[in-house]
Amino acid sequence: MDTFAIGDQDFLLNNEPFRILSGAIHYFRVHPDLWADRIHKARLMGLNTIETYVPWNEHSPVPGAFVTDDGLDLGRFLDLVAESGMHAIVRPGPYICAEWDNGGLPAWLFTDPTVGVRSSETGYLAAGSSYMESVLDVVVPRQISRGGPVIMFQIENEYGAYGNDKAYLQHLVDLSKRLGVDVPLFTCDQPFGAMIEDGSLPDLHKTGTFGSRADERLAFLRERQPTGPLMCAEFWNGWFDNWGTHHHTTDAAASAAELDALLTAGASVNIYMFHGGTNFGFTNGANDKGIYEPTITSYDYDAPLSEDGHPTAKYFAFRDVIAKHFPVPAEVPPGRMPVPTSSLAVSHSVSLLDVPVATHLVSGSVPPVELTGHYRGFYLYEASLPGGGVLSFSEVRDRAQFFLDGVPVGVLSRELGERSVVIPAGGRLQVLLEDQGRVNYGQRIGEAKGLIGPALLNGVEVVDWEVGAVDLDSLEAFRSAAVPLPPGDAAAGVAGPSVSFATFEADGPGDRFLRLDGWTKGVVFMNGFNLGRHWSRGPQRTLYVPGPLIREGTNEFAILELHGSATREVRFAVGPDLGSDEK
Ligand code: GLA
Repeated sequence: MDTFAIGDQDFLLNNEPFRILSGAIHYFRVHPDLWADRIHKARLMGLNTIETYVPWNEHSPVPGAFVTDDGLDLGRFLDLVAESGMHAIVRPGPYICAEWDNGGLPAWLFTDPTVGVRSSETGYLAAGSSYMESVLDVVVPRQISRGGPVIMFQIENEYGAYGNDKAYLQHLVDLSKRLGVDVPLFTCDQPFGAMIEDGSLPDLHKTGTFGSRADERLAFLRERQPTGPLMCAEFWNGWFDNWGTHHHTTDAAASAAELDALLTAGASVNIYMFHGGTNFGFTNGANDKGIYEPTITSYDYDAPLSEDGHPTAKYFAFRDVIAKHFPVPAEVPPGRMPVPTSSLAVSHSVSLLDVPVATHLVSGSVPPVELTGHYRGFYLYEASLPGGGVLSFSEVRDRAQFFLDGVPVGVLSRELGERSVVIPAGGRLQVLLEDQGRVNYGQRIGEAKGLIGPALLNGVEVVDWEVGAVDLDSLEAFRSAAVPLPPGDAAAGVAGPSVSFATFEADGPGDRFLRLDGWTKGVVFMNGFNLGRHWSRGPQRTLYVPGPLIREGTNEFAILELHGSATREVRFAVGPDLGSDEK
């Protein structure tokens, strides 16, 4: 049987020095029919390993569940890695950061205020242990020691940037070993200050996360760990975008020079990301270091393999660098082929406020949305106000649209720090609330979402609220209630908040890029699959539609528009447009 170990200076594969040339692909950000293609293209760039996180909240949407269907079939993903002749590194968290909703921690866990976050608090450990058991059922039999591809297993993620609860780390180590992990365990941390020490334990192999100044970072790591192989566990060769910022890119030649420095120094590397993929649905995370900044739908990351799986200039620059140090396969992946372009007009629509939402009645202060038993997306709050005036909250998480008797009267945005709105005198207040993505880094992980009370009208608390989750898992309620739009050309537009539908014919599966010029803000669905959020503020202008979602014959496109659209048309564009990279 094969072995993998940590030697004095090197990783050892079957007792021979081995350099890990890894690339990150998150299976949960890629359509499962495309996994094999992306893995193959990693191998063609000269990589020998695929790294992935495991998102707890995705696998466990409700307590006790561990879903492994379709796009969450981690076992199948690892098997495909093995079939391509590559190794695998698994990073199951339980916390993963990753610009992923809540850093991968399930929101249901924190509805009990006694539960700790990333610590040795008993409730957190119990839930985390049960999750780890499920992950390890999949991973343990796929370790290299048992004939599988997995060569390394990460404990937590950049824990030194968050805490220093050694009992927590020790618990994860003991649990992993008890459940059968026998490949090397490691931690990753930013090579600054005390993070390498705080985030690890003496017996764990320590690696660094960084994107530049490789020699300096490796020297820092070496000082803290005198023996063992050097590894950059996240070589940030690109970056993610937040709504309202420019599109982040890094120069291919400069990134390639950093990779060259790492390889010349004898280090192992995991390219973060090799292929970023997409934050489909409501899976994006957010940052908040004083200002809330939700991450966009595309997770292209300016990675070597683009969001739609094609080699970029960076891919070829990296391949050339790797070829200087190691053999690289001769085969080169093809570039992007022309995609079908056309435009289509929505024909049917229904006001979101006209479709009933199952609500919970709360006799008391305004509750957070978790009360509904749903943890992502949109919610509807309702209350009767005794009159008009200033309505305020202690916080809005994250964006609230106010309607009085169905008429829009204002928006409050957490990004802008807003928390009070002037409401005219009237009657029934409805608030359409968007959870724009849970914070994935820092101390705000695990926080509740919704209207955070007390809700005060002219300083007097408003009580007796109804709150319900808007069900977008199935569009059936909207589809059956949608009626033909009033006559008018494309410029007649569509009033929001509404869900509108269009159908179109296709010859069969194939990638598309949806361009939504004229639409303001919302969510887009292809044949019922939630492609993610759209917003006119950018940077991204197109949404990636993975080819397998399109079928031969009639296809259904649906769009939730929150505000209003200047057009009834959407376009399939020639390629991706992720926005300007100028600040
Ligand atoms: C850190 C985290 C990753 C990711 C990157 C930024 O390194 O460990 O999960 O958030 O930052 O993309």
